[in-house]
Amino acid sequence: METRKLIIDTDPGIDDAAAITILLSEPSLDVKLIASVSGNVGIEHTTNNALKLLTFLNKDIPVAKGAAAPLLRDNRFATNAHGKSGMGGFEFPEPKKELLLEENAVMSEYRTLMASEEKMTILTLGPLTNIALLISTFPEVKEKIEEIIMMGGSTERGNIGIYGEFNVTIDPEAAKMVFRSGIPITMVGLDIGRKARLMVEDLEELEKSGEVGTMISSLFRSYDGGHVEEGVKMYDPSAAMYLMEPELFETKEAFIDVEIFSPLTIGATVVDYDGTLSETKNAAVCVDVDVDRFRKRYVQRVADTKR
Ligand code: RIB
Ligand code: CA
Repeated sequence: METRKLIIDTDPGIDDAAAITILLSEPSLDVKLIASVSGNVGIEHTTNNALKLLTFLNKDIPVAKGAAAPLLRDNRFATNAHGKSGMGGFEFPEPKKELLLEENAVMSEYRTLMASEEKMTILTLGPLTNIALLISTFPEVKEKIEEIIMMGGSTERGNIGIYGEFNVTIDPEAAKMVFRSGIPITMVGLDIGRKARLMVEDLEELEKSGEVGTMISSLFRSYDGGHVEEGVKMYDPSAAMYLMEPELFETKEAFIDVEIFSPLTIGATVVDYDGTLSETKNAAVCVDVDVDRFRKRYVQRVADTKR
């Protein structure tokens, strides 16, 4: 089977964990590195959470610790949604510290990409700080990146401020650098995660499917204040599912840029589908998802994940 080499850059994070879990059991993916970044919670927690998740899943994938803060701005954590540790709601085992690399995420991402014969995909589930540092420090690495699939941005309203999506708005300068990099990008934004919700019956299915499903359901039942009745918004899992089953999604080509100046609209992803700004299109945007199939396929993937 043709395998696709992948780097995951992430700020676990409950929905990050729900995404990483199904990626690690996909046979066609060869996950070479998991890089942590400060985002939902601080870098020590996001790094530790990645290690705890890998230990629980019995997956020996190297983890590299990334940026402790955005390029220019202060951290703004999302402990209200993810809990103080960032993965509240489930008791994970003590992390296998031997999975943590000495070198930092930017160096590890650079080394991993340059050592690979074929181009690699990068899936970003958190702020883009590491990726901005990577491509500005080592521009030659862009040749080794097949595409960046990002959970980030929004074609509609935001979740931090009026128009800002969390991953982009925590480090809007980093996001702007990535969108201007010339690397092929697919943006899976808030609007998709808001549509592709898991309902209570899906959580019950997960719980029946075994200990991995129970872990995911426990995390989701404590996520975002635990309001599961209206459905669990699947932000990071929708980016992971796009990577593995793009046929569930509809995409459109667009020019995207990021607001970095106006305090009113900071972090807004301005999505131009029809050339109004006379700029060259630089990304594909997910604009719709087959929600019923998404829910079924996500639950099945978790059920198929054995630890
Ligand atoms: O806006 C949602 C995104 O921000 C998700 O990736 C969530 O984990 C947080 O990182
Ligand atoms: Ca995330």
